[in-house]
Order: sequence, then structure tokens, then C-alpha cells
Amino acid sequence: MDPQEITVATIKVRQNGSYLVDGDDVTLVDWNGAPYQIPKRPFALCRCGGSTNKPFCDGTHSRIGFPAAEAAVKGSEDKPAT
Ligand code: FES
Repeated sequence: MDPQEITVATIKVRQNGSYLVDGDDVTLVDWNGAPYQIPKRPFALCRCGGSTNKPFCDGTHSRIGFPAAEAAVKGSEDKPAT
């Protein structure tokens, strides 16, 4: 890869849904560092906990009514996760 080439990955927090990961240079690994096969790109990661295909989203969030509509707020980047 050209060292001047910049690759960007984006993780989009979907309203009431998954994390949408977009980027050709993204590797998803488990706790042992073993890579997952990425079925397609972009791909969605479960954040509701209900998927039967974790870590990927399988659409369960819609059926269970997963509520997560928080949006990024200017200044919130300095606050720790809760
Ligand atoms: S976020 Fe889609 S199944 Fe959990």
C-alpha cells in the first residue's frame, strides 16, 4: 500500500439498531485475535444483544424494539462510556 494512501473506516451508530461498519481495510477479530469472515461490506454489528449470529446483526433489534436513539452531542467525546 502506498504510505501516502489514507484509508478510512467509518462506524455508523444506527438509530435503534446496529453499528454499520464501512471500510475495505477493516478486520474484525475475536478475543483471541482470530479474524471473522466478513460476508459483505459494509457490515452490521449487533449492539442490542439479541442477534443469533453475533457479532453480526441479524435484524432481531427490529423485532424486539431495541431503543437506542442517542445522537452524538458536541462535547460528549470527552465523557467516559457508561
Ligand atoms: S443490533 Fe441488530 S440484531 Fe442486534
